Parts: sequence; structure tokens; C-alpha cells
Amino acid sequence: MSFLAMRQVGFTFPGWPPVVSEVDWDVEEGEFHCLVGRSGCGKTTLLKLAAGLLHPDEGHIRLRDAELIAPGPALGFVFQSPTLLEWHRVLDNVLLPVSLQHRPTVAEIDKAQQLLAQLGLSAHVRHYPRQLSGGQQSRVALARALILEPSLLLLDEPFAALDAITREELQDDLLHMCRTRRTTVLFVTHDIAEAVYLADRVAVMEGGRIAADIRVDLARPRSAATRTSAAFIQHCARVRAAMHMEAVAA
Ligand SMILES: Nc1ncnc2c1ncn2[C@@H]1O[C@H](COP(=O)(O)OP(=O)(O)OP(=O)(O)O)[C@@H](O)[C@H]1O
Ligand SMILES: [Mg+2]
Repeated sequence: MSFLAMRQVGFTFPGWPPVVSEVDWDVEEGEFHCLVGRSGCGKTTLLKLAAGLLHPDEGHIRLRDAELIAPGPALGFVFQSPTLLEWHRVLDNVLLPVSLQHRPTVAEIDKAQQLLAQLGLSAHVRHYPRQLSGGQQSRVALARALILEPSLLLLDEPFAALDAITREELQDDLLHMCRTRRTTVLFVTHDIAEAVYLADRVAVMEGGRIAADIRVDLARPRSAATRTSAAFIQHCARVRAAMHMEAVAA
């Protein structure tokens, strides 16, 4: 059984047509999977199901061979907007998942500071979220998701609001952080190039179903040269074609 296994997963909000249908999806430990698809196709819903924030009406989801019941410390989540607490300083925002359990220890505070340093935020540890740029706030949300060293990290379009260059920097930061920790990742995005750059596999979602599953066999670590390589451009074309075919079928 895979690290994360979805079998025939279906989900419906009462009184509406199904939002997720017949999803089979396996993620092996340490892999990075991206989920792409048009607005409203069910990406956030599927990510919430993987997090245990919603429960499937049909099928089941198993994490490390145990039924997924509720979100736990093994799981980190970065939402579609950074959702930082405005009245907490950056350091306390990062430590929030710890503070919900106990008063942070000196070692945990050190760890939060190290994470912030790795993300280029050492100068902002004592600032409030409103004093940060959008990209900096996204980095704080990422540090907060990593503080408990989750084995599974779920990210919902975390960089969507950022300019192209900041976004590329954050993609590299994320790949580096997850590679050194062997974190398994599901990452939702609208952006085909972002998905191909980050992922080992790209799942294309359409109308609540996984319509295509594309393996990305580009060498790691990925770099600026990756983005201009012929293989990268070919992979992007394959994902684009899969998305387009589904749109035509719909
Ligand atoms: N609480 C809800 N009640 C009823 N329908 C909902 C609810 N939340 C989402 N939906 C519907 O479920 C569908 C999928 O929503 P979801 O948020 O998963 O889409 P998405 O692929 O993440 O879209 P986007 O790219 O815009 O974030 C949409 O049609 C949406 O209207
Ligand atoms: Mg969404």
C-alpha cells in the first residue's frame, strides 16, 4: 500500500452534484505530486479530503496504511491565502501549531528561527504580518506548516498571488526544504509550468475526476536551466494537452 492511498473517493456537498468522483490516487513516500485543473473542478475539496478536514462519502483514504480520520501533527496544510494571525508576530505565527499543544520550548523557538532564516526572513521575526509583503507572508505560512515536521504537506495554490520571480524563488525554497526532510507533498496549482517544475507526477483534474496522470522524469535538483530545457517544455505541452482535451470533452 502506498504512503497516501485514495480508493474510489467521492464527495458531495448535500443538495449539490458530486464535487469529487471515483478518485484513485497513490502517492509514495517522499514524492511530490501536483494537482492542476480549472477553477471549480474540485482541487481544494480533494486536498481537504486528503487532510482529513472533509470525509469521503464514498471510497476511502489511507495514510501510512491507517484510515485517515482527522488532521494530526503528521500533516501540514498551507491554505489558498496565507491566513496568518494579524495580532501575532511572525515568530509566534510560525510557532502556532506548537502553542496549540504546549508552551514552546527553547529548542522549538530555535527551530522556528532556523526555518525563518532558511526562508530569508531573519530580519522579520519580530514583525507583524501586516508589515510583510505577500511573498514574505507566504513564506511564514510555509514555515508554520513545516514547524512540526509533517510527513505529508498539502499546499493549496500557496504562491498564486505572487509575481513570477518571487514565485520561482519560493518554488526552489519549497523543493529544497521538502527534499532535505523527505516530506511527501501534494500541491494544488493552476499554473502548468509551476506543476511541471515541482512535481514527480502531475494529476489533471476535471469535473471532480482525475482525468490524466503524467509522470515528470526531469532530473533533480531542478534549476533555472530546467525551465528552459526542451524536456521541460515537452512536459508542459503534455499537461496542457491533457487539460485541453478534458475541456473539449466537457
Ligand atoms: N461548501 C460548499 N457547498 C457547496 N458547494 C461547494 C462548497 N464548497 C465548494 N463547493 C463547490 O464545489 C466545487 C469545487 O470547489 P473547489 O473549491 O474544490 O474547487 P477548486 O478546484 O479548488 O477551485 P479554485 O481553483 O477556484 O480554487 C465548486 O463547484 C464549488 O462551487
Ligand atoms: Mg481551490
